[in-house]
Amino acid sequence: MISTAGPPHTDDDWWRSAVVYQVYVRSFADSDGDGTGDLQGIRHRLPYLRDLGVDALWLTPFYTSPMVDGGYDVADYRDVDPMFGTLADFDAMITDAHALGLRIIIDLVPNHTSSAHRWFTAALATGPGSPERARYLFAEGQGAHGELPPNDWESIFGGPAWTRIADGQWYLHLFDPAQPDLNWRHPEVRAEFEDVLRFWLDRGVDGFRIDVAHGMIKADGLPDVGFSTITTGQRQVELLGKGRLPYFDQDEVHEIYRAWRPILDSYPGGRMAVAEAWAETPQRLARYIGPDELHQAFSFDFLDATWSADSFRKVIDTALAEATVVGAPTTWVLSNHDKQRHVTRYGDGAEGLRRARAASLLMLALPGCAYLYQGEELGLPEVLDLPDELRQDPAFLRTGESRDGCRVPIPWSGEVAPYGFGPAGSELSWLPAPTTWRALSVAAQTGVPGSTLELYRAALRIRHAHPALALDADGVTWLESGPGVLAFSRTAGDTTLTCVVNLSGAPVLIDGYGQPLVASDTLTGQGSGHLLPVDAAAWLERH
Ligand code: NOJ
Repeated sequence: MISTAGPPHTDDDWWRSAVVYQVYVRSFADSDGDGTGDLQGIRHRLPYLRDLGVDALWLTPFYTSPMVDGGYDVADYRDVDPMFGTLADFDAMITDAHALGLRIIIDLVPNHTSSAHRWFTAALATGPGSPERARYLFAEGQGAHGELPPNDWESIFGGPAWTRIADGQWYLHLFDPAQPDLNWRHPEVRAEFEDVLRFWLDRGVDGFRIDVAHGMIKADGLPDVGFSTITTGQRQVELLGKGRLPYFDQDEVHEIYRAWRPILDSYPGGRMAVAEAWAETPQRLARYIGPDELHQAFSFDFLDATWSADSFRKVIDTALAEATVVGAPTTWVLSNHDKQRHVTRYGDGAEGLRRARAASLLMLALPGCAYLYQGEELGLPEVLDLPDELRQDPAFLRTGESRDGCRVPIPWSGEVAPYGFGPAGSELSWLPAPTTWRALSVAAQTGVPGSTLELYRAALRIRHAHPALALDADGVTWLESGPGVLAFSRTAGDTTLTCVVNLSGAPVLIDGYGQPLVASDTLTGQGSGHLLPVDAAAWLERH
């Protein structure tokens, strides 16, 4: 039995076992027919999310932005981009969400601003050595005439992490050149973001998802990595989560979170923060979490796990063990806006969908918090055949890899694309939905027994109501099961819930676990037990 013992639940601890639904704002619901999702669109769809059974929404950035990186290039941290609405729309949306019992987590992007941010335009307008430049990471180049970048750092989106400006200096951007990195050793930068936190806390947000939470502090002296695409053929980014890089996971970054935590704690109602952080080891990742730092750090290991019992078991055991050490719940993720959707990762088509449904039941039976990505409740696959000219991910031009295929607007209803994404009659959507999505829309799946949407609704209903699943602190007990089969139970009082997942490639007989509560595929009775089909999962209950 692995336990993730934490303090007893209070309302302030809502995040410990919450199901959080990630809204990629641009692609969720378009209220005004311009082909882009917006805050009013979210507001109108809140009842759908309440009925789905999630506890909270995480909204990707909706701030003023040139949208070079889907809004992760923020020009004004205290305003809403007109394409998404207004601050009044935000206030109306959060008021309605709270009235429906839904919490709102927003994305904070502190590692870099947009190059359109007033601070960066001022830095360009003034010369080398100016106080305006000190808020970013400007440096002289190497070589006789400073014609080479200051060091060998590479952008996550490909190519050098430095861009040279007209007066000869270079500036650092770990992502796109339109996303200059801030200098977090500058007191003004720290003060500014503490104020931004308060700005949104005052507007009632329940939490923050911290973008690139491991990146704000760079090693003193900006030393070379000594490992580059040019010398090894391997990109530095491949070290992410596996090795140390001088621009990530520096010890000093924790000071920032130790300053933020008292701010969060000074507001009532359990305001929280979740880190998008990558670190060399699970132990180093765990350092972001704790009573004096952040509440959660995404456990991303499921995103890389292959469809096998061993690989899933390893992911689960590692994450639960780390959670035990820091006394915080785990934070599971199967899909997000940066990764290929899990239907496609597991093989695409009917097989991928079967496996994705089983994996989702597995995740939702685990202790801790689960993050869902919009559209996974519909079983959406990655859109693999978007025309290149429509792709907008800045990484695409530099690396040929694009995250657009998981960002296609989700289908709500109707016979014609974009399937109810916009108001009646609107045909616009910033990325086109494939015709196969007609059958995957919310309306097409609602009330249809066995649909992926009804599977999620049932699982979330049970997760909320079942005493063995409602807690984050009861751990899991692994059960003896045949090769390729995962089985674990969770117990509350005299009720035991068992989750069984069949990754063995052949149907398996499950006996002795009690009555099925929900299954990702049809179970057939056999003797006193049930036959669990290939690539399926089931929850069973015994008293
Ligand atoms: C992580 C975000 O999830 C991703 O979408 C973005 O491109 C980078 N951070 C840069 O902000």
